[in-house]
Amino acid sequence: METKIVDANKELLEFDAAAKCLKEGGLVAFPTETVYGLGGNALNPNSSKKIYEAKGRPSDNPLIVHICDIKTLDKICKEVCKEAYILAERFWPGQLTMVLNKSDIVPYETTGGLDTVAVRMPDNKVALALIDKAGGFVAAPSANVSGKPSPTKAEHVYNDMKGRIEYIVDGGEVGIGIESTIVDLTSKVPTILRPGYITKQMLEEVLETARYDKAILEENAGKDLVPKAPGMKYKHYAPNGELTIVSGNPETVVDKINTLVENNIKCGYKTGVIATDETVQQYRCNNVISLGTRKDKQTLSHNLYNALREFDNMEVLYIYSEDFGEDEFGQAIMNRLLKAAGYKRIEV
Ligand code: TXA
Ligand code: MG
Repeated sequence: METKIVDANKELLEFDAAAKCLKEGGLVAFPTETVYGLGGNALNPNSSKKIYEAKGRPSDNPLIVHICDIKTLDKICKEVCKEAYILAERFWPGQLTMVLNKSDIVPYETTGGLDTVAVRMPDNKVALALIDKAGGFVAAPSANVSGKPSPTKAEHVYNDMKGRIEYIVDGGEVGIGIESTIVDLTSKVPTILRPGYITKQMLEEVLETARYDKAILEENAGKDLVPKAPGMKYKHYAPNGELTIVSGNPETVVDKINTLVENNIKCGYKTGVIATDETVQQYRCNNVISLGTRKDKQTLSHNLYNALREFDNMEVLYIYSEDFGEDEFGQAIMNRLLKAAGYKRIEV
């Protein structure tokens, strides 16, 4: 199959053709503000099956249904609770996915056999227009091959998905760069199943209370808790090189990473470093990528997956990263980084 790339802002006829293809059961990748999604018609069981095949993803890992109009929420969900409308009012369109009870029109192929469905309205004009033209309900996981870092550019999608899907709608680089926050509203207390740009604190500004799914908290890594978002149990976001995170006070971290790099270079191992603008000059290594300044966490998240893919292109064998977990959004970045590292971390 040929994979056509469509410039969302210039090729309007082709954009309409992509939307039609999506509506009729084809697969179309598209930009959202978090990461690129791999879209199929959420109400068509065959489309969902094709998504799993294209990604090489286990079919018990449910898809997020993307909508473009809050009025359609009660078509795919039953018993929509008041918290859902409160959160939608405050955070949609935006980086929040809500898990609710599904209605009968949502096939089990889309929800991985669950009676609940995850729903999000993305904050991206191209995505909203595509969803609208494609019939209003687009199932979309991140548009990477299962286990790879999520794509933040159309080029990343092309590298992973060429020959596997009909279209890629190119809307430029995404803004946020890590996936949406997922909150489960079917449990008694709204529960965060995956951290993201929207933090627990932000949720608690409009809800009485919210909590984290214990299985996703860092201190419980490796214990036998099963995360409620099935996707969180898989190794994820992983680059080809072996990634280790180095935590501690900034100066000691730089020293430690320099020593590790030096040892690797002696052995002839190509090594990369994930740094920040504050430290980038201090590394004695040829392959240093700064994610940006620590003063702006959104820049850090925006550049993270691209950096991991860049290190794959450079074919580095080892990667060392600084720690970013100073606040709640930093924790969301660390959640991805730790999974990419298989929780390998050195404290100095
Ligand atoms: O930002 C995002 O959420 C991106 C963009 C494309 O919207 N999408 C995304 O999808 O990250 P994906 O498939 O890579 O991650 C979806 C996560 C998985 O961990 C999955 O297990 C969880 O959502 N999930 C989906 N439906 C669920 C449900 N009914 N109950 C619990 N978890 C669910
Ligand atoms: Mg994903």
